[in-house]
Amino acid sequence: MTQLHAPAVPADFEGVGYTKSRDGFPLEAVKVPVPKPGPDQVLIHVVCSSLNPLEYKLAQLNFFGRSPPVVLGFDMAGVVVAVGEGVTRFSVGDAVAAMADSNGDGGWATGGQGGYALARECFTASKPGSLSFSDAAALPLCFIAAYLGLQPNISKGDTVYIPGGGGGVGHLAVQMAARTLGAGLVVSSAGGPQSLALARASGAHQVFDYKQEDVAAEIDRLTDGRGVDLVFDATYSEKGFVETAAMVREGGTWVVLGVGPGKTTRTGETESPVDAILAERGARQVNANMLRYFSQPELMDAAAQAFFGQAMQAAMAWALDGRVTPHIGKRIDSGPAEINAELAAMAAGHGPVGKVVVNVDRERAA
Ligand SMILES: NC(=O)c1ccc[n+]([C@@H]2O[C@H](COP(=O)([O-])OP(=O)(O)OC[C@H]3O[C@@H](n4cnc5c(N)ncnc54)[C@H](OP(=O)(O)O)[C@@H]3O)[C@@H](O)[C@H]2O)c1
Repeated sequence: MTQLHAPAVPADFEGVGYTKSRDGFPLEAVKVPVPKPGPDQVLIHVVCSSLNPLEYKLAQLNFFGRSPPVVLGFDMAGVVVAVGEGVTRFSVGDAVAAMADSNGDGGWATGGQGGYALARECFTASKPGSLSFSDAAALPLCFIAAYLGLQPNISKGDTVYIPGGGGGVGHLAVQMAARTLGAGLVVSSAGGPQSLALARASGAHQVFDYKQEDVAAEIDRLTDGRGVDLVFDATYSEKGFVETAAMVREGGTWVVLGVGPGKTTRTGETESPVDAILAERGARQVNANMLRYFSQPELMDAAAQAFFGQAMQAAMAWALDGRVTPHIGKRIDSGPAEINAELAAMAAGHGPVGKVVVNVDRERAA
């Protein structure tokens, strides 16, 4: 466990988040009290964070029905500055990586002095000393999502298709499948030269340009017409869902990250042919949705907590031994202007490949 000097905790700080309960984007600077850890929670002085699409979606739709202001920045790497009752694995001064509850507050802050946010003990892991705060902060949400989608569903030797291997979740999923979870063949796709390069560098054996090539025909060719054993689709593309569901072999598995076909806008449901496509081939559909564990707290039982704890520990251990390497496409300072610009680019599909890291405590992040 790496021990660091824990900074004194102020009464409040200027966070970055949304202040309206609808259309809360662009984010604003907002003064908020530093929260106190409840049972099984740690309070983290945030050194680095990273951006996720969840943050602009929450600002736009506030779909957990929170009362603003809501500070964002769920991915965190930093130093424990207080622990709640019942916390056994962490103490003040520990260097950690963590994910804040998605229906809680995150740790983005203005001023470069660090932010403050709570994390449950099960979503917190010790940060190895040789792993940088930025690498550690690029992992939690995307790594857990990829782990939730793949680890329970993959079998040794499986042929796997992971569309979007240049994405935040996608590149980590490709690395996991190819380097750790025992896939036999990992096929991926991406929509431009840099994404294609990241998917290849992440260990995909075959990568296709989904904007230029007929990926379904290539999968057909690679599998002698059988289809793949497993698809893990983390693209939130309704058009893509229809295509990737049809790539699963008879009796195979289609794992979708998030709310699933017909619901991705969260503003209304649309008809989706995905269920029928999967039923026709006797394939199983699995919804891997981390957010459900926060909207339905009864799901966060002991087994779920143990699973997420295992995922966070794997994130740190595998990053340490090189089995996963988060790709950091850009680093920014933690101000509303910088964060808004990058979230807007991400929402428009023009962001850098991989992850954008936010330096929240400028001195310690350096
Ligand atoms: N509910 C949950 O549990 C949960 C957890 C984590 C993430 N998510 C959601 O999952 C999605 C992905 O997150 P992320 O962080 O990976 O976002 P990201 O970094 O923006 O990646 C999205 C990727 O999807 C790819 N893509 C889009 N359409 C595609 C298609 N038709 N075929 C192949 N690839 C396609 C893009 O490829 P190119 O850029 O190369 O075109 C991009 O790499 C987001 O919507 C996020 O909100 C949900």
